[in-house]
Amino acid sequence: MHDEEPAGTDLLTPQARSTLESSGYGSWREIAKADAVSLAFGFPFPESFPTDELAHSVEVVFDAEGPQALQYGGGEYATRLESFVREREAARGIDPVETSVLLTNGATHAIDSICRAFLEPGDVVAVERPTFMGSISVFENFGVEIDGLAVDDEGIDVDALADRLETRRAAGEPTPTLLYTISDFQNPTGATLSLDRRKRLLALADEYDFVIVEDGAYTDLRFDGESVPPLAALDDSGRVIRVGSFAKTIAPGVRLGWLVAPEPIRDAIDALAAGGTNTFTRSVVGHYCDAGHFDDLLPALREAYATRRDRLLDALERHLPPEATWTEPDGGFFVWIELADTVDTDELLDDAIDAGVTYLPGSMFYPDDGGTNALRLSFSYADPDDFDGAIASLADVAADQS
Ligand SMILES: Cc1ncc(COP(=O)(O)O)c(C=O)c1O
Repeated sequence: MHDEEPAGTDLLTPQARSTLESSGYGSWREIAKADAVSLAFGFPFPESFPTDELAHSVEVVFDAEGPQALQYGGGEYATRLESFVREREAARGIDPVETSVLLTNGATHAIDSICRAFLEPGDVVAVERPTFMGSISVFENFGVEIDGLAVDDEGIDVDALADRLETRRAAGEPTPTLLYTISDFQNPTGATLSLDRRKRLLALADEYDFVIVEDGAYTDLRFDGESVPPLAALDDSGRVIRVGSFAKTIAPGVRLGWLVAPEPIRDAIDALAAGGTNTFTRSVVGHYCDAGHFDDLLPALREAYATRRDRLLDALERHLPPEATWTEPDGGFFVWIELADTVDTDELLDDAIDAGVTYLPGSMFYPDDGGTNALRLSFSYADPDDFDGAIASLADVAADQS
């Protein structure tokens, strides 16, 4: 063991060092270790994992094509998964002729691969503010300027974006190369981008020549209301890359996601994504989906998450003080809460953990300063029977700071 820093650490790039220092993952581990009701992480609840069906798919894959499934490139079932994803995206209105699918090791891997193809240090990436911290850190790794735009209950503020773009152009500053949006049940606010804003966003992308990365990690988990067509379905100029994941539906551990993009863009990203994807889990999930299990799984998941959301919202209604506000998502995993201005949710966290509840402080979701009095609660993981007590405890500790 090394008593001091291993010699090689000196050779880490400044970017790697700075990512390590600023990484939220250190504090995540502390939160994860806490012996408390976890409303912090966007993990699916363990009983949702279709373990029996996946175990059966493993057997079938081994029996039918074991050596190919274990080989570079995979076999028939790995290929079928690509067709399955293509058909599902086509059913959402995305043109299967103009676009093609690239399977990835999760949505984050897809986003990282997109960045490799499009970003150089000094470029600008526009994001929602707040947004998913995992994506913020991917963008930071590319040495870009991250420009955050406010989000309300209809998603990213497109008027503010139009003003920002105009100001940048007038000042001779660079305009964004990419705009990253979580269009359905955004992480962390739960907001869904309205149809009108989707159309205006596409018009701005045309006018200012940027690519939209549409993260649909939660699209399949709508419990209420009508689906809104994806940006990728509304786009007719080939500047939207849509990203998806099986992490929130089948299981994070299968490490499988995808992107859908116009073919030359998909091919460029594929050529840059070193190492390829896990053909074995692709084959297993390929069989699982082909057998109809994914389509059977979704209704049960939506029902379970809707009940969880309702129980969390009931608890918030019962215990939070009148000055607190929160979102009421139609899908996904998260509720975003703003407490009194005097509350600092980073400081509150230790008290909350002592009182038996964890959450993620709002500041984690900002590419800059912000979110001090906000926090994200996830209804996806903990036992819903614990929600009421956990929120009562949270309200108590917050009252001490108000
Ligand atoms: C918006 C969003 N995108 C992507 C991910 C990560 O997806 P994956 O596990 O497939 O990398 C998450 C998970 O928290 C998320 O909330």
